[in-house]
Amino acid sequence: MLAAVAVPVIAQSQFFDVPFVPTPQVVVDEMLRVAAVGPRDVVYDLGSGDGRIVITAARKFGAQAVGVELDGDLIYQSEESAREADVVGLVKFLQQDFFKTDFSQATVITMYLLPGVMKRLRERMLQLKPGTRLVAHDFDFEDWRPDRKTTIRKNVFLWIVPAHVAGKWRVRAGVPGGEHTFDMELRQKYQELDGFARFDALPGGLWETRIEGDRISFVVVDSRDRENEATLYFEGRVGVDAMDGDLVRSVGNQQARFKWRAAKV
Ligand SMILES: C[S@@+](CC[C@H](N)C(=O)[O-])C[C@H]1O[C@@H](n2cnc3c(N)ncnc32)[C@H](O)[C@@H]1O
Repeated sequence: MLAAVAVPVIAQSQFFDVPFVPTPQVVVDEMLRVAAVGPRDVVYDLGSGDGRIVITAARKFGAQAVGVELDGDLIYQSEESAREADVVGLVKFLQQDFFKTDFSQATVITMYLLPGVMKRLRERMLQLKPGTRLVAHDFDFEDWRPDRKTTIRKNVFLWIVPAHVAGKWRVRAGVPGGEHTFDMELRQKYQELDGFARFDALPGGLWETRIEGDRISFVVVDSRDRENEATLYFEGRVGVDAMDGDLVRSVGNQQARFKWRAAKV
C-alpha cells in the first residue's frame, strides 16, 4: 500500500502532495481495462510519475493520454520512455500541479494518490462531464461508492461521473390515448437516486431509479385503471435541465413502446 511505503521507489529531490510510487504494470493494465479505455479516449493521469499509465494507455489501448506531474526529472524520464515506446504522437506530459490543471477534456482520469488528495479532488470530479470514467488504484473517494471494484494484487476502483438530476421535474409521457403529464421529484447522492412521482392524483412510488453517466432509468406504476395496472419502464438521456427517451408500457406480457420527455421545474 502506498501509505505504508516510507521511501519512494525513486528518490525525489522535492516532496509534492504524494510521493512517487509506481503502480505495478499488471495493475496499470487492469485500471485501463476496468475503465474500458479505447482509441476514442483521452486519458489523464494525475501525478503521472514515470509515465507508465500514460504510455500504456497509448501503446496497449490506442488512446491519447496526458500525464500531469510536478517533478521535472519524472517528466524527462516519461518523455524518454514515450520515445522508446514509439507513442510520442499520442502522449503529452505537462509539468504542472494537477490541482491547477484543466482536465475537463478527459474521458478517463487515472489516479494513484493519497486519501486526503482524493478527497480534495472529489468535488471537481463530480463537476466533470457526465459519463467521464474515473479509475483509482488503492484509495477511493470515501462515501462516493465506486460503480465497480476489482482486486488483482491491488484494489482498483471505477466511478462514472453521474449527471445531476436532483430536483423537481415535469414529465410528459406517451401513453395509449395521448400524452400524460405528471410531476416527479428526484433525490440524489452521487449516483444513488430515489424520489417519488405523482402519476395520478396520489403521490406514488418511483421504482428502480438508476443513473449511469447521462443515462437515467426509473419505473412508475400506472394505476389509473385499477383492474388493469400497467408498469411503465422509463429509459432516457439527461441533457441541460431536460431529459428524454423511450418508455415501455407493460401489462402482463404485452408491451408497447412510447416516447417521454421531462423538463426541470
Ligand atoms: C503515487 S505516484 C503515482 C505515479 C503514477 N501515476 C503511477 O500510478 O505509477 C504520485 C505522483 O504524483 C506526483 N504529484 C504529487 N502531487 C502532485 C501535484 N499536486 N501535481 C502533479 N503531480 C503531483 C508525484 O510527484 C508522484 O510522481
